[in-house]
This record gives sequence, C-alpha cells and structure tokens, in this order.
Amino acid sequence: MAMLKDKKIVLGVTGGIAAYKAVEVASRLRKAGAEVHVIMTKGATNFVTELTFREISGNPVTTTMWGEVTQWNVEHIALANLADMVLIVPATANLIAKAACGMADDMLTTTLLATKAPIVYAPAMNSNMYTNPLTQENISKLNNLGWNMIPPASGHLACGINGVGRLPEPVDIVAFVENYFAKTASMAGLKVLVTAAGTYEPIDPVRYIGNRSSGKMGYAIAREAKKRGAEVILVSGPSALTPPEGVRTIKIESASSMREAVLAEYPSVDIVIKAAAVADYRVKNVSDHKIKKKDEELVLHLEKNPDILKELGELKQKQTLVGFAAETQKLIDYAKEKIQKKNLDMIIANDVSKPGAGFNTDTNIIKIITRDGNIEELPMASKDSLAGEILDRVMKLR
Ligand code: CTP
Repeated sequence: MAMLKDKKIVLGVTGGIAAYKAVEVASRLRKAGAEVHVIMTKGATNFVTELTFREISGNPVTTTMWGEVTQWNVEHIALANLADMVLIVPATANLIAKAACGMADDMLTTTLLATKAPIVYAPAMNSNMYTNPLTQENISKLNNLGWNMIPPASGHLACGINGVGRLPEPVDIVAFVENYFAKTASMAGLKVLVTAAGTYEPIDPVRYIGNRSSGKMGYAIAREAKKRGAEVILVSGPSALTPPEGVRTIKIESASSMREAVLAEYPSVDIVIKAAAVADYRVKNVSDHKIKKKDEELVLHLEKNPDILKELGELKQKQTLVGFAAETQKLIDYAKEKIQKKNLDMIIANDVSKPGAGFNTDTNIIKIITRDGNIEELPMASKDSLAGEILDRVMKLR
C-alpha cells in the first residue's frame, strides 16, 4: 500500500444507497497512508452523516459551497488544486450527467470542473439507469476525456433486482486506486509520439482523397500513455475526437505534413507508435481551383507518398518503433514483412475485414508481433483497453 502514502485524495460521495460503502473506502485509504478529504453532495447527506466521514477521514467534510468557513471551503476550488486524485464513490447517474455537461452547481461538480487531477469514478445505480443510452453516452464522454471508470459489478441491487450497477467492494475500489498510482508512474520520464487518424490528400481546394480511419485507436494510446506519466505528442490527421487532456496535439492533414511534424519530433522521443492510416498516394497535380464538372471522364494521376515509418526505421537510434498493419489477407506474413522492411520493434496487426476490428469501430481484434517473431493474439476488446495492453507490451520490450 506504499503507493498511497501521503497521496491527497478528494473523495466525492453522491446520493445513492451505496454511499455507506464510501465510509469503508475512506477508512481503507486513510489506513493506507492517504490524506482523505470528503465532499458530499446534498443527496449523500441523506444516506450517511457528515460526522461519520469527518471521524473516519480525520478532516473537515465539505457539504456545501455556501456554508461556514472551514479549512477547505475558504476558496471554493482549494480542494480541486490540492487533489492528487478525485475519487467519486458512488457516482450516481445524476452526477455523471451533470459532469458530462460541465455543470458546476455544488461543491463536488465545481471541484470536478476545476481540477487538473485525475478523476476516478465508480458508477452505482439501478441497471436500467446504468444501461440507458443517455447514461452510457455520458459515461463514454467522460471516459474519452480521460476519466477513469471503475466498472460496476453485477448482482443483487438495493432496488430489488439482479443486474449490473452494483458498487464494487471497497477493497477492490482501493486496489484500483492503488494500481492507478502505480501505473501512472510506469512511463514517467518517457517521451512518446503517437500518430493517429487518416490523412487527407487534396485534389482541389474543396476535395480530397481520404480513408475511414477515425483516430480512435491512436487517441486511446495517447491518452493511456499520458495516464501512465509519459510526455505525449499526438500527431493527428483530421478526426472528430477531442484530443486527450495534457497531450500536445499537432493537427495535420496530408501525409507530407505528417512526415514533417513527425521528423521534427523524432530525435527527442523514446517511443513512436504509428497508428495513423497514412495515404500511400497523393494527387500529382493538385488543382488551385475547384475542378469543374465536364462530360468526359476525370483522370487523377497519383504519385507515391513518402513512407514515414520506413524513414523512421532508417533513422532509428534509441527509439522503440511500433507500427500498425491493417490487412484484409495474409495478416501475419504481411505484418512480419513490414517489421523487417521498416526496421520496427513491434507491429500491431489487425484484419480490417473482420467485424469488430479495424477502422471506425470502438473495438479491435489485434495480434501483437515482435521483431523476434513472437505472435500474441488478443481477444476482441475496446480500443481503450487494447491501448493499455499495447503499452504493457511496449514497456516489456524496453
Ligand atoms: N505508414 C507510414 N507512411 C506511409 C504508409 C504507412 O508511416 N506512407 C505507416 C502506418 O502508420 C503504419 C504502417 O506504416 O504504422 C503500416 O501501414 P500500412 O498502410 O498497413 O502499410 P503500408 O506500408 O502502406 O503497405 P500496404 O498499404 O501495401 O499494406
């Protein structure tokens, strides 16, 4: 439990029946050496008293923004600045919805909006509320912003039914927090460059040649590397995704501009992960004006783009170089060929013709192949969780 020693944890407690379990969470955190500061929502005070948390945490408890002045509510964002982590146990559907909208109408939501600390939350609610698309949309919004969810367990719920929505046991919540801190230290001091999304190759001022890559895999890797303490640079082609918090994001459009951005950063980085779907060809004579419709066929001449990853392989010094291989046939053979041709340390191969894999999906099915020929096949999983699996393997190589 050394990981938690002197860590300042702001524990947000919201108004659900599972609020009583937050008492044990506070107790375990404190026993493990953490400094615990509790913020209760008004709803939470209907389930557990402020006094209980004050006694257990050994610190004043905040229940309102407008109450008596105590050590912490002098300045209403003091706890937001002080926190090494904001942990919400339990997180009700209401709190999740308010947070996803950026509301700040009480001390907890204000702190969540103001803090730069990592946020961990443990949803607990009725199954139908949890699986409701509105709640799920709010959850994925928060997770995409870098919030860390402790998934709810399944079992008997206080509302009398069996289903998903139970708060995990306090011991497991504290283990999650501890692992989180252990993980965030694991890539500290490393500089990671990630490329993501597809490229746009212009045809004329209004048209381009592009591909179906959404950027989800690359953004997930960048976000996860940041969570693990790395300094992260994300070079991204056009994508609808919000760049992860704390990651330096360089937006580019064409393969040539991606090459320029990547080469400029390359000498100082330790790890490169090229998840981008780079166009292999570009239009030879890009028209300065919008091409007008004519009766005859339109012929575009394409010329080859530079292979950025191959160039990085040639220039490689200390860097660990990871490529992606999107294939529709002979997955392993082609991926192995790319490792050699581009001088890679690892390649993430996926068969983009399989359902649940490849472009513009939330999940992926990947094979991780290392230079020594080792092949590891991972089951279908979310791109978020695969990002962690990939980084675990990259760190093993170093
Ligand atoms: N890549 C790159 N520059 C290119 C093309 C690809 O840096 N011009 C990188 C991709 O980011 C990916 C890896 O090379 O990490 C493999 O990309 P992929 O499109 O699968 O392979 P290609 O080398 O383009 O070969 P092919 O299209 O024939 O499969």
